[in-house]
Amino acid sequence: MQQTTLFGGLFGDDKRRYLGQLAEGFIATQVVAVTARLGVPDLLADADQTAEELAGAIGAEPDPLERLLRAAAGFGLLTQDENDRFTLTEVGQFLRTDATGGLRDFIVGFTGPPLWQSMGQLENVVRNGHYSDATDDAASGMWAYYQHHPEEARWFARAMSSLTTRLAGEVVTAYDPSGFERIVDVGGSRGTLLMHLLRRAPQATGVLWDRSEALEEAPTVLAEGGVADRTEVVAGDFLEAVPRGGDLYVISQVLHNWEDEQARTIVSNCHRASQPDSTLLVIEPLLPTDSQPSPMHVLDLLMMVGPGGRERSREQHEALLASAGYTLTRDIALTQGFPPWHILECRRT
Ligand SMILES: C[S@@+](CC[C@H](N)C(=O)[O-])C[C@H]1O[C@@H](n2cnc3c(N)ncnc32)[C@H](O)[C@@H]1O
Repeated sequence: MQQTTLFGGLFGDDKRRYLGQLAEGFIATQVVAVTARLGVPDLLADADQTAEELAGAIGAEPDPLERLLRAAAGFGLLTQDENDRFTLTEVGQFLRTDATGGLRDFIVGFTGPPLWQSMGQLENVVRNGHYSDATDDAASGMWAYYQHHPEEARWFARAMSSLTTRLAGEVVTAYDPSGFERIVDVGGSRGTLLMHLLRRAPQATGVLWDRSEALEEAPTVLAEGGVADRTEVVAGDFLEAVPRGGDLYVISQVLHNWEDEQARTIVSNCHRASQPDSTLLVIEPLLPTDSQPSPMHVLDLLMMVGPGGRERSREQHEALLASAGYTLTRDIALTQGFPPWHILECRRT
């Protein structure tokens, strides 16, 4: 695979080349994400095209688009022939909407304005503990931003779904939900995980609880999974309350978006709403406690500057859950790979 490096190419030796390549990541992020956002890979699915033809189809400026495409070719996403026609490489194919195992939703959703701009606040957060006062709306609060930008909310929910589809498969393999009657998914986004749980619990009903903009595509996901007729889709704020009466509450990949105080509030709201003998499943990747490097520390950094949360070890989760009225009864490790997802099964104390 052909790959150009800009900063890395300035230095001859491997160590400085590697550092240069690390530092040019901010360029690569935008080249990949904008190529995907503009839908270039879909337009190149059936035939090669010139920048001019692509610009007409996208409604973009031909000259800047051509310069983007040539840079994308440098990163190995496209090739350009002698007639200036662009074609997808095997790697670029994975940015097509219809690619099996494609990454378009994942990349566009996780590189959108809130996460992209929040990384630019890293120095302020590390120096001062908070963003600069002059932040624009994208970096001033992820969830508030999505409320005012529904298209970005859709991309983020789709990106979560692409990750959670794998998670959900692992959850229902490791945990049998068939004994439960009413499953409440707190912050359940498009309903990907709840749909999988309900398919394994044919007698159960479900409640999907999230902010309204995150729920927009949930009816389609639930209908495609054949569980729409037994699922209530309810918009609400889990920092205020969660639906009552569940015998199984699920909080998946949510607590790491929050600092301890808010995370405790979310769990306490589940405690308040649930039946005395109910079960809570907290599903999160766990932070390692040894001193080895781990991508979990990169994820922790993203949680710090993005939504304003933190990754936690099993012990930290256990303490948080105990402070909100729950005892950890089982810790089920889901995967040996990344992320190191666990199901933390808890009972009310
Ligand atoms: C990282 S996503 C996890 C989604 C889903 N549980 C999963 O595992 O794929 C966090 C979710 O929390 C939701 N959320 C954020 N703030 C919320 C609030 N105050 N009330 C309800 N949901 C909220 C977001 O909309 C988003 O869907």
